[in-house]
Amino acid sequence: MKHLIDPTDLTKGEIDDIIALAEDIIAKPECYHDCLRYNKLATLFYEPSTRTRLSFTSAMMELGGNVLGFSDAKNSSVAKGETVADTVRVVENFADIIAMRHNLEGAPFIASTVAGVPIINAGDGSHAHPTQTLTDLLTIKRELGHIDNITIGFCGDLKFGRTVHSLIKALSRYEGVKVVLIAPDELRLPDYIKHDVCEKMNVDYREVKTIESVISELDVLYMTRVQKERFLEEEEFDRVKDSFVLDCEKLASAKKNMAILHPLPRVNEIKPEVDADPRAAYFRQVGNGKYVRMALIYSLLKWKNDPSHVMPEHPDFFEDGELQCHNSKCICNHEPAPRLFRHTPGGHIRCAYCDSFIK
Ligand code: CP
Repeated sequence: MKHLIDPTDLTKGEIDDIIALAEDIIAKPECYHDCLRYNKLATLFYEPSTRTRLSFTSAMMELGGNVLGFSDAKNSSVAKGETVADTVRVVENFADIIAMRHNLEGAPFIASTVAGVPIINAGDGSHAHPTQTLTDLLTIKRELGHIDNITIGFCGDLKFGRTVHSLIKALSRYEGVKVVLIAPDELRLPDYIKHDVCEKMNVDYREVKTIESVISELDVLYMTRVQKERFLEEEEFDRVKDSFVLDCEKLASAKKNMAILHPLPRVNEIKPEVDADPRAAYFRQVGNGKYVRMALIYSLLKWKNDPSHVMPEHPDFFEDGELQCHNSKCICNHEPAPRLFRHTPGGHIRCAYCDSFIK
């Protein structure tokens, strides 16, 4: 069975098939209106969401299925101390597929180790957000006509921005993609993405300090919000919160067909004056999220009993009771979980749940 916990759980071919299916749904929605009648999606959201939860809900409804779940774990038995693993063992009795968002990194991964139905990671802490990645890829394809051979600038909070981590992982498998990282020192991309993804996959990447110094080169500018909820110190957040603000003046030297993406919500990193620019694709991006989630739910349920669509092997995962993950936001430090780790291409050891450096 196939789950979607990390973008690399899908082969590039599977991602391209999901994007092609989403485009077919956009072209011929009437062909898909009833194809998941009597199927049920559970949305288990332990953390706030507007786009992801509602687009999952809308997607399942458009496919003719039904939706159940919670949008506030405080109103579920989680408040009585039920673990993620037990919650999933319960909910799989009521639903054919589960989408989970959690503030703790690795929570959907734990769910996938015990679940008898497909689990979709709808965002886990600062770690990963693979369905936003599918949304972003479909948006790039629809805005530019192709995903290969683009130069994409990621701007803002590249440390905590899970959408950035997942999109770079996915783009590393496309041809000729160049990545420019635009962030203050405090919010630079985590080393594991630079070393284990960009360097391993030979992605051409560089780090710069200003939008102005690179905007004329970009085919895509991917803006992000500084994630206040991930900071341990409020003063640190205050220092970096207004690091980058996109306005019409900065856009003057950008390509005429550059696409401006943002996973949203925005706070003040894109001025409202930019919304009227035809290159502002972020609200079209939201709409694409529904179609790509329709394609994903449809595909995972179709693949559920197909032995050719299984999770990729992780030969580098190993269990070691002596090693300890020190990330306080990792699920492995909050509920019983096998002590799983992986070796990196550079010879280090990282936590299998949250990718934190171990040694
Ligand atoms: N892009 C995104 O994940 O938005 P929500 O937090 O509103 O779901």
